[in-house]
Amino acid sequence: MKLILKLFLVVLPGSALATDIENGNDLHFEYCTGCHDSGVYTRADRKMGDLAQLGKQVRFCQNAVDATWFDDEVDDVIEYLNATYYHF
Ligand code: HEC
Repeated sequence: MKLILKLFLVVLPGSALATDIENGNDLHFEYCTGCHDSGVYTRADRKMGDLAQLGKQVRFCQNAVDATWFDDEVDDVIEYLNATYYHF
């Protein structure tokens, strides 16, 4: 019983608990390149002004593309975009 619990704890952190930029990168590559490329994140007149706005936009676009992500997957993509382009 104890061993099983330990295994569970060892396997979890990398996948579900921490924000995972690498996973965000993968999800973004798979779902988010159909309508715009990364140029919208870096253009001079980009519309995102803070992290809250970025979160809303990611959820909006995620709905538009019909991806059914869990909240932590949405967070991964937000974190990926923020770490790579926005730096809020
Ligand atoms: C159905 C088409 C479509 C898809 C697919 C799509 N987007 Fe978008 N996205 C848009 C449109 C339209 C805009 C607004 C562009 C503009 O203002 O010129 C936009 C803008 C954005 C912006 C804001 C850019 C800025 O100005 O700073 C972000 C961030 C963004 N999308 C993230 C995503 C993410 C993450 C995904 C994948 C879940 C995604 N998009 C997939 C249509 C889409």
